[in-house]
Amino acid sequence: MKFSLFLLSAVAACASAASLGEQVSPENQPLYNSFTSSEFPYSPVDIEFRFQSDKDAYFKSLNVYNQLIRPHEFPSHALPLAIVKPTKGNNTNIAAVVKVAEALGLRVSARSGGYMSGYSANMAAVDKASQDFLLVDLSKLQGIKISADKKIAEAEPGVTGALLAAETSKYGLMFAGPHTSRVTIGGFLLQGGMGVGSRLHGAGVDNVIGFDIVTATGKVLYVDRKRNKELFFAVRGGGQFFGIVTKFYLRLVPIAAKPSVEPAYNASTIPIDQVFTIFDRPQAMDLMNYYAKFDYSAPKALENKIIFVVDAATGNKQYLFASQSAAPFNTSTAVTQAHAGMTEWYKTLPTVFASSEPNTYSGVVHGGDDSWPDNDDLAYYAEDVWFKAPLDPRVTETLVKQWDKVPSSMSSMALNTGTWDAPTKSALGFDRSYSLCIYSTWLRKGDAEEDQKNKKWLEETIAAIKPYTLGFYANELRPRQLGEKKYWERCYEKKTYKTLKCTKEKWDPENMFKSL
Ligand SMILES: *[C@@H]1O[C@H](CO)[C@@H](O)[C@H](O)[C@H]1NC(C)=O
Ligand SMILES: *[C@@H]1O[C@H](CO)[C@@H](O)[C@H](O)[C@H]1NC(C)=O
Ligand SMILES: *[C@@H]1O[C@H](CO)[C@@H](O)[C@H](O)[C@H]1NC(C)=O
Repeated sequence: MKFSLFLLSAVAACASAASLGEQVSPENQPLYNSFTSSEFPYSPVDIEFRFQSDKDAYFKSLNVYNQLIRPHEFPSHALPLAIVKPTKGNNTNIAAVVKVAEALGLRVSARSGGYMSGYSANMAAVDKASQDFLLVDLSKLQGIKISADKKIAEAEPGVTGALLAAETSKYGLMFAGPHTSRVTIGGFLLQGGMGVGSRLHGAGVDNVIGFDIVTATGKVLYVDRKRNKELFFAVRGGGQFFGIVTKFYLRLVPIAAKPSVEPAYNASTIPIDQVFTIFDRPQAMDLMNYYAKFDYSAPKALENKIIFVVDAATGNKQYLFASQSAAPFNTSTAVTQAHAGMTEWYKTLPTVFASSEPNTYSGVVHGGDDSWPDNDDLAYYAEDVWFKAPLDPRVTETLVKQWDKVPSSMSSMALNTGTWDAPTKSALGFDRSYSLCIYSTWLRKGDAEEDQKNKKWLEETIAAIKPYTLGFYANELRPRQLGEKKYWERCYEKKTYKTLKCTKEKWDPENMFKSL
């Protein structure tokens, strides 16, 4: 790669930076100098180096938002040479980081928290153990600007689902955002996008109007369906391969009968129609069979999911079913009738808990919070897959069988609504499909055997359902091996993958970002 003039001047300006107290070896001197230069826009406090003596600060910076994967356990090739944490969404500054990397022959990985939370983000940039990379952590970029009259939100990548919902709902508006409140929209929109109300409004990525991106050459571009449109397709679902998105422009939809341009609504008081039930193991197949039929033809405004849980007190395998309306105040008879039918059905079976009382919009946004506790003793492995819609009965049978074998009461699986017409106008997912997330979550006891048991269960579950999967979901949180390139091929429809390859060739031929 080219040695740019920018870097030469930076090195010259701060040849004495090493005297700040760091013992920097000659090979790391250029990197250290370029980031500690008075000309460089970021102050050193926002940068941690792998070679610095304060290892705690380095690992603390590397920590992922939910603390479920511990940085000091990352394989060495997943440890970035430096972690750069911008505190202001200044595109010029973020472009400068990419240019330093280019000049020094380093690769770049960006993360915002969210689904790109763990290993996947940190391992993003390297193919070989000897390669090095910079991690640009965007989690501090949390700016939001709402234009209520135009129903548009501008949001930076570190904005969490909860923050965005809190702001938009004041105006009686929402974005089809993440179900887990702490997931950030950067990770959500770049790799995921199956969000609140997806069946009605489309996936999160379908509601992205445009974005600002820093490309592999350090250029700052605005991208939408007309401008740089191949990036518009690719980044929404394959964002980790193409650049650093610094701002999203999002389409908002009404959640109140009359949205307002002044803050007037309170998300805690906006009711959402729902049916919520918990069944024990003997009713598992009844529920699965009902769900497969119900979900396939349910009104678009309804979002239905089954979460496989374990009752911690008894160790019983349980099945939580939730059907929620994406549109509050939706008085359509289709919605009312569907829920009335569901209520009638669940009354014919024993339930552990059942309710047809409305939830609130806040309740929906924070519904998954308890499954992501901040607990230092937690560990997890996860994998997401896509299933064809309608659901094959062998899939549900296999899932129930695997659930019987789950070793930890903290693990879960979530089968998310299918049949949303995600028109393939983005790289995300497989059309007409269900998504399944499997979380093998357990408490650390310093016991390698326990760790192995839980990892093995996840792997066995994946192997058992493999014959029925369409592919993987690119928001995975499981550590990938070096050279496991075929994985990404299985995350995209064939045609999409081909398109992504061409886009990569054009925008990042030297693999500055993650290889595809
Ligand atoms: C962004 O950073 C550059 C370089 O430090 C500076 O010249 C520019 O004024 C900044 N822009 C904003 C909007 O803060
Ligand atoms: C919103 O409503 C909840 C529940 O009534 C209340 O506790 C909260 O203070 C309200 N928030 C605002 C900003 O009014
Ligand atoms: C209400 O639900 C119906 C049925 O799913 C849907 O077609 C309609 O768009 C929804 N209305 C609103 C305002 O979301």
